[in-house]
Amino acid sequence: MASARGEFSSRLGFVLAAAGSAVGLGNIWNFPTQAASNGGAAFLLVYLVLAFTLAYPALMAELIIGRHAHANAVQALQRISPNAPVRMFGRTAGLIGLAVASLILSFYGIVAGWMIAFCISSFASVLGLESVSAWLVSFGFARNVIFMLLFMGLTIAIISRGVQDGIERWSARLMPMLILTLVLLVIYVLTLDGASEGLKVYLLPDFHRALSPDLILRAMGSSFFSLSLGVGTMLIYGSYIDDSQNLPLVGGMVTLVDISIAVLAGFLVLPAMYVALHNGVEIFGPGGELLSEDTLVFSVLPELFTTMGPTGVLVSILFFFLMTIAALTSSISMLEVPVAYCIEEHNVSRKTGVYAIGGAIAAFSTVILLNFDTLFGFVISLTTRYSEPLLGFVFCVYAGWILHRDKLLQELRKGNPGIEQGLFWKIWPWWVRVVCPTVILAIFAQSIWG
Ligand code: TRP
Repeated sequence: MASARGEFSSRLGFVLAAAGSAVGLGNIWNFPTQAASNGGAAFLLVYLVLAFTLAYPALMAELIIGRHAHANAVQALQRISPNAPVRMFGRTAGLIGLAVASLILSFYGIVAGWMIAFCISSFASVLGLESVSAWLVSFGFARNVIFMLLFMGLTIAIISRGVQDGIERWSARLMPMLILTLVLLVIYVLTLDGASEGLKVYLLPDFHRALSPDLILRAMGSSFFSLSLGVGTMLIYGSYIDDSQNLPLVGGMVTLVDISIAVLAGFLVLPAMYVALHNGVEIFGPGGELLSEDTLVFSVLPELFTTMGPTGVLVSILFFFLMTIAALTSSISMLEVPVAYCIEEHNVSRKTGVYAIGGAIAAFSTVILLNFDTLFGFVISLTTRYSEPLLGFVFCVYAGWILHRDKLLQELRKGNPGIEQGLFWKIWPWWVRVVCPTVILAIFAQSIWG
């Protein structure tokens, strides 16, 4: 049954695809800017603790449910439910997850489109096409729609090819390129004047700030979004892993790759900010707060790149190319959520499903662009602040309370016969039952009443 639905061909294939999903605009853009505006090393420290203690166990909940049920989130939650009301609840939660994944893609595609536009803009300036280059980096409806459609087209093209030929092959090609580009950029930026100032901010914690509840909540949300949790993405990827794989191990590898890339991106963005400062670019306001927190990548970094002279153009092309790759391996994992559901529940062909759903999401992105001021921020906070934590809570409850302990053990034993003796089995079952739901509810409560 599993192979008829498509399956990753190897452990490496799965790890690259899942890590590709996890590593995205969240790690390379969101994490470093959050760190920069929330006490640098203090944020890094809290983020690291939460990623291992909260996000990793929640990731395991999704992977285990997915592989156990060999189905998309809607069917998986229904399948493990003991009775009709719980089944109904699971189905509803799965459908909401599917809608949230589509909504996340609708704003993600817009931001990723900007990345492509900035990358091509640098190319255009190399060719001396200055007016084209300037148009590409200025905010406008035509540019926004064209590049959103381009990005969505790429996402649709990859997903229409299925699990092994599409998701796995492209993640395996793009992920190593991404890591290499990032490392080269970090090495380059660290040789520049002013970089050491940024390194200090990033590596010397101010413990005063590490204990602030606001910082802890932000770090939690960040780690959650970064591992693609709470919409069924990791659940569906889990359903494509074969039974011989050791789930806690592969989940751990994905978490490590995700965290490492976020931390590595911090070594690029924080020093780069201070290099920019050193070169006379304003990045802090009078109160010491970061200017243009949300758009740092699109304003401060290009300015930094231009101050670098001819090399700056190359660095700029590389950087925005890297962002595009990172966004693409994430966007394919979002689109797979509604697509897998349509294929498995409504028997549509993969191609039809992908074109119809991808088209509908692109149409919604256009609606967002037409009402940018009202819809853009609203969709982002609706999905990432409210829906994701609540659905993550539901996945943990299903793994901890509804999926029977024997079934969990049976599932984990498949790839690791000695699991019962290990630390993971001693801690994880009650952790996901008690600690994770409590902490996630706290995030949710904070975003409503905080
Ligand atoms: N994790 C990705 C990032 O850091 C974004 C992402 C991909 C995502 N799939 C997701 C976020 C599913 C939430 C849900 O950019």
